[in-house]
Amino acid sequence: MTIINFSNNRAMDNKIKKAVVTPNSKIYVAGHRGLVGSAIVKNLEAKGYKNIITRTRQQLDLMDSVAVMEFYCHQKPDIVIDAAAKVGGIHANNIYPAEFIYDNLTIQNNLIHGAYQAGAQKFVFLGSSCIYPKMAPQPLKEEYLLSGSLEPTNEWYAIAKIAGIKMCQAYRKQYGFDAISLMPTNLYGPRDNFDLQNSHVLPALIRKFHQAKKNNDADVTVWGTGSPKREFLYVDDMADAAVYLMENYSDEQIVNVGTGIDVTIKQLAEIVKKIVGFEGDLVFDTSKPDGTPRKLMDVSFLSLQGWQAKTSLEQGIQLAYNWFLENQGQIREK
Ligand SMILES: NC(=O)c1ccc[n+]([C@@H]2O[C@H](COP(=O)([O-])OP(=O)(O)OC[C@H]3O[C@@H](n4cnc5c(N)ncnc54)[C@H](OP(=O)(O)O)[C@@H]3O)[C@@H](O)[C@H]2O)c1
Repeated sequence: MTIINFSNNRAMDNKIKKAVVTPNSKIYVAGHRGLVGSAIVKNLEAKGYKNIITRTRQQLDLMDSVAVMEFYCHQKPDIVIDAAAKVGGIHANNIYPAEFIYDNLTIQNNLIHGAYQAGAQKFVFLGSSCIYPKMAPQPLKEEYLLSGSLEPTNEWYAIAKIAGIKMCQAYRKQYGFDAISLMPTNLYGPRDNFDLQNSHVLPALIRKFHQAKKNNDADVTVWGTGSPKREFLYVDDMADAAVYLMENYSDEQIVNVGTGIDVTIKQLAEIVKKIVGFEGDLVFDTSKPDGTPRKLMDVSFLSLQGWQAKTSLEQGIQLAYNWFLENQGQIREK
């Protein structure tokens, strides 16, 4: 049996120890095979970080607290970026509420507490725009978190994510642990989950239009009324923001990460239709739930930190579709 000895346990003082980030910092990216994690590893490598560590789910099950502690104890990363979570759209949240709350709470508890125990200098946690209150004013400002009732279709996931943010804030307050939380908007890009039932709206649309084009279908059905407004950020931009904020940001306030621009689902479907080259009609299945009527991030705090998105929605969807075409044999379905 392995004995876990955290000989360099943090002193119990609450003065923030700001991380010193260098190209040799040992950075553990949890969830590196996912949409966000893979983009973060690519971004870190491009920026010259030389000491990146990763583990597949088979090598390290993040639900296993003992295994996570042992891993931290042996590896002692300087920085942890947590891109591991159970993620999915409205349908998946409705079908698997227990897994959404339990898995996310467990993974983040193991990762945050273990990183602190093992003496990591910095922790980057990812919340989400979908955990703001359903009827919060738009655009969403950081201070609206916990100001009203959640969207019922994903409250399990939201409660877990809010607990993760609060845990980062609590560890900052009590232990001086430099844990920060970012609030990404809807993300898309290479390695997305393209499953038609369990995925987010944009990869599902790409796949639907692609299949309809291949089958010469007369129309494509889109869930809901088409009127809700959503914001989308290309995942390489998200990764760039995460690494930028890892390097430059240290505070308890959550940081929205988005473009600050939204489109209706109908407009989005029309862009995807054009990029994929489908020539049939668009039909809206109004029996399916719409979710939150509008979700747009106020990104003024992020701009103040000196970062803004670079990829337009059309460019990003084209890049995501190119990846889909080149990787159809290995697209993820859950
Ligand atoms: N996608 C979005 O639009 C979006 C928007 C806002 C926030 N976020 C946040 O960004 C983060 C990453 O999301 P994503 O879209 O990149 O999700 P994703 O593509 O599903 O990736 C999640 C990663 O977590 C890993 N993982 C899950 N459970 C694990 C376990 N028990 N042990 C080890 N690894 C485990 C998965 O491993 P496998 O590869 O083995 O499955 C996968 O690599 C999440 O915190 C999410 O809440 C995402």
